[in-house]
Amino acid sequence: MKRYEALAARLADDIRAGRIPVGARLPSLRQLIAQHGVSQSTVFRACYLLEEWGLVRAEERSGYFVTPGASVSETPSRTTSFADSSKVEISDLVFSVLQAAKHPDIAPLGSAFPSPLLFPSARLLQSLTQGTRSLSPWSTVSDLPPGNDALRKQIGLRYVGTGVSVPADEIVVTSGALEALNLCLTAVTRPGDVVAVESPGFYAALQAIERLDLRAVEIPVHPATGLDLDALAAALDKHPIRACWFMTNFQNPTGATLPIEKKKALVEMLARREIPLIEDDVYQELHFGRERPLPAKAFDTQGLVMHCSSFSKTLAPGYRIGWTSAGRFADKVQRLKLMTTLSASIPAQAGIADYLQSGGYDKHLRKLRAALRSQLTTMEAALSRSLPATVRWTTPAGGYFVWLELPEAVDAMALHRLAIARGISIAPGPMFSVTHSFENCIRLNFGHPWDARMDHAIRALAEILDDPAAHLNGTVRTAA
Ligand SMILES: Cc1ncc(COP(=O)(O)O)c(C=O)c1O
Repeated sequence: MKRYEALAARLADDIRAGRIPVGARLPSLRQLIAQHGVSQSTVFRACYLLEEWGLVRAEERSGYFVTPGASVSETPSRTTSFADSSKVEISDLVFSVLQAAKHPDIAPLGSAFPSPLLFPSARLLQSLTQGTRSLSPWSTVSDLPPGNDALRKQIGLRYVGTGVSVPADEIVVTSGALEALNLCLTAVTRPGDVVAVESPGFYAALQAIERLDLRAVEIPVHPATGLDLDALAAALDKHPIRACWFMTNFQNPTGATLPIEKKKALVEMLARREIPLIEDDVYQELHFGRERPLPAKAFDTQGLVMHCSSFSKTLAPGYRIGWTSAGRFADKVQRLKLMTTLSASIPAQAGIADYLQSGGYDKHLRKLRAALRSQLTTMEAALSRSLPATVRWTTPAGGYFVWLELPEAVDAMALHRLAIARGISIAPGPMFSVTHSFENCIRLNFGHPWDARMDHAIRALAEILDDPAAHLNGTVRTAA
């Protein structure tokens, strides 16, 4: 372990044990140097790491402060066993929850999207016009998979910006990340195969597994430390796993980010067994720390990592433009794309290419990240004010979801029904696992500008938590 990692681990222990309480400022740079006998750069790097783990947050010119959710326990919340592979039946539950939350008057705490008001729609429209105007009449043919050349070049440049080298011919443009992920899964599996997924994990992975008649093995994810690699190793020994589908940055729903060493270890573990990793990295650009976190793809030397992302969470959800950098499977994915939906929208590809070429994307991302970060602060303050102290969460270091662990007796599905009746959506924990576990957990979205309606929604959730109807067997939670 390097010096800065050891220092970060020691400070993380102090934070988790409550020795540096929530809201407190970390000792100053000078104090940390003196106390631990380390250099200034070791302290800086340790602080960046703590920020990456979601344990502290930098306040301009004031130092680092412990985040509200940082004292969450190390033990994963109710997770499912990875002992068995399961057939997946999740769609009915997911559809019913998503349908119930669709109405625009509903307070969108359960939404999967950030507010459309955070995107530069007017500027993008100019690029759509400009990009479409300069399209060649032959683009219907030339922009077929792998996709618009200018766009693929721009996507390639963003990889270069993170220090990841990806050959341009590996990139296939798709209709959103969801299509990229589905095509990758189709490319590397056959019906009946076993796929490792996260638990809790993004429900669309479970839906894809259900649709392709695959079987799932769930690997626990802890909100603070991410995917449990020991559990994965044990599952790989036990099951004939054909592929893994994981998120390494700002995981949906927990917000967890895998530390860099774990990303490397994950890629090496899978490479030794020649198992493809489908890496869902749609929130990578929404980091609150200084640096964009690396994907696992950065450590791929065998072409086994299929990195998938999109512009849906950062720029233009409705344009439905995503991509995969699919390593050795790029040709197969490209053919599958041709055989299924032929091509991503050609004007949308040209519009986004024009926008990226014009150079405003990074400026927009800085603004978007600042807005999300400030909305997170406001939401955490509202949660701390309104909810009992028994409700726990880990402050995410990026993205726009907070995963709450409620008292044991709370039934998240009942909470969801009662909340919808009061005009509030939440994403109940059972949506995020094959076995409908995490019955006492919910995911909340902080991707919407905070207003009185959101404040009211959090207060209403606190009231619903007191309602016996929101509890298993009608029991009321014990007060903190
Ligand atoms: C984790 C995750 N992956 C993928 C997607 C799909 O992204 P896109 O809208 O680009 O298809 C979503 C959208 O909710 C998501 O949350």
